[in-house]
Amino acid sequence: MRMGTKMHPFFSCFLLLLLVSPHSYGEKEEEDEFEEIKRSDFPKHFFFGASTSSYQIEGGYLEDGKGISNWDVFSHTPGKIINNDTGDVADDHYHRYLEDIELMHSMGMNAYRFSISWTRILPRGRFGKVNKRGINFYNKIIDNLLLKGIEPFVTIYHFDYPMELETRYESWMSSQMQDDFVDFANICFEEFGDRVKYWMTINEPEMVAILGYKKGNFPPAHCSPPFGNCSIGNSDREPLIVMHNQLLAHAKAVSLYRTHFQEKQGGSIGITISMQMYEPLDQQLDRKAADRFLAFHVGWIYDPIVYGDYPKKMREILGSELPSFSDEDKKYIKGSLDFTSINHYTTKYVKDCFHSSCTDEANRPINAFTETTPYRNGILIGDQMGMPGLYVVPRGMEKVINYIKQKYPNQSIFVTENGYSMPTSDGNKVEDIVNDWKRIKFHKSYLAALAKAMRNGGHVRGYFAWSLMDNFEWIRGYDTRFGLFYVDHLKTLERRPKLSAHWFTSFLGGYPLNFHPSE
Ligand SMILES: *[C@@H]1O[C@H](CO)[C@@H](O)[C@H](O)[C@H]1NC(C)=O
Ligand SMILES: *[C@@H]1O[C@H](CO)[C@@H](O)[C@H](O)[C@H]1NC(C)=O
Ligand SMILES: *[C@@H]1O[C@H](CO)[C@@H](O)[C@H](O)[C@H]1NC(C)=O
Repeated sequence: MRMGTKMHPFFSCFLLLLLVSPHSYGEKEEEDEFEEIKRSDFPKHFFFGASTSSYQIEGGYLEDGKGISNWDVFSHTPGKIINNDTGDVADDHYHRYLEDIELMHSMGMNAYRFSISWTRILPRGRFGKVNKRGINFYNKIIDNLLLKGIEPFVTIYHFDYPMELETRYESWMSSQMQDDFVDFANICFEEFGDRVKYWMTINEPEMVAILGYKKGNFPPAHCSPPFGNCSIGNSDREPLIVMHNQLLAHAKAVSLYRTHFQEKQGGSIGITISMQMYEPLDQQLDRKAADRFLAFHVGWIYDPIVYGDYPKKMREILGSELPSFSDEDKKYIKGSLDFTSINHYTTKYVKDCFHSSCTDEANRPINAFTETTPYRNGILIGDQMGMPGLYVVPRGMEKVINYIKQKYPNQSIFVTENGYSMPTSDGNKVEDIVNDWKRIKFHKSYLAALAKAMRNGGHVRGYFAWSLMDNFEWIRGYDTRFGLFYVDHLKTLERRPKLSAHWFTSFLGGYPLNFHPSE
């Protein structure tokens, strides 16, 4: 049954049942519909690709003049990453990039999103020289992508920056980081902008702020009670400062691009946000809390960038703790994007903490007096993925597109990450990992929800699976696998297509892949 077709009499009975038991019947009806998704449900010039980031795949962490990054230092600190894994070798993409580009080509992908390692280009930020060998590496990637008809989508900064910026002035805690970022972006535009037409300044600034400065489980590991017990930090304030500096860094880089490059190079620029969906736990009691939560996560970034200032709700709750934009700042931050770029994985419920009791953390202004939960009446919102905190909820994809459409009209949208990690309880042997029919089901169902949002007027232009291959999943190390290709990190680093790689190949009409996982 396809949405948008006329309602069959059987379906209206079905709706009746749905009212009686929304959970079980609602799920089943959705699943049936999802089986049908086809390439032709999307526009001809739609971008279909995979996403990666430099630190997660490249390895070669000391090669050809690369400098030391915050993540090199963090992953080398025992106890920070599962199994003490590091990105020293990762997927060895630094040496295998040609093979990896060929994998995407053979799947029939026409786009690839990757990030530039800041320390390959500027090993010491502004305080040293440009490393030509780093520039050559990305030139080779870009040229080979274009040769294969794959459009490069480039993230300038995806979590890894020169450690020197941390030791000199505490990186994003300081406004000096804005200058370093703009300097780095300028080199990227200059060196790669003749061929790169889609730029994303920063990946998930919210995760940088929250994981690095509120929870403290990402570098530089700042936090304070009740959020965590780091040796330094202030979880109530620092995330706000860090976001402010990232937003201004973004806006200044966009302004630079528009003034000096855009006309000549003809590209466009945006910023990538983590955009999960949040539903009220109780449709009446928690509705405002869900709105508030979204304002504190999505509005925090897109309200300044689209409208020139933080959401009113944030100012109301955070008062003077929330930094202010000067009139000068407002002028260039307002409208500083050509498209929206969202990374979407999951949906959770939000509960209001003004009227009911919550944890100490939830009761802090920075948490908007809200709490999230995956449970309603003891029932999980969707199947648990291998990555803690992620649940399979396809309808969330439709809802995020509708949300962007309503709050930020006229923005075209790229879904720059969406993917599935299989629970390790489903098996840890190679055979189990490559037989990833649950991942296929995930992509099909989320793509169907995306197609539906597009039929209802969502202006979506591309979809990128996270990720091309299993990689260094930050603090989860190599334990959590999101890849369409299996990578043997312990021994050979060989890439092996999972069933999902075969599914994408047939969905996109690529060439049959060399070998089948069951061989
Ligand atoms: C990580 O390294 C620390 C310090 O060397 C060690 O105590 C710990 O057992 C290691 N953890 C694993 C999982 O190997
Ligand atoms: C911080 O330490 C205190 C005292 O040892 C402990 O009770 C609390 O659970 C810790 N908080 C976190 C978030 O780890
Ligand atoms: C969106 O575009 C329409 C038509 O061009 C315009 O009238 C409207 O003001 C725009 N809205 C925003 C928020 O830019």
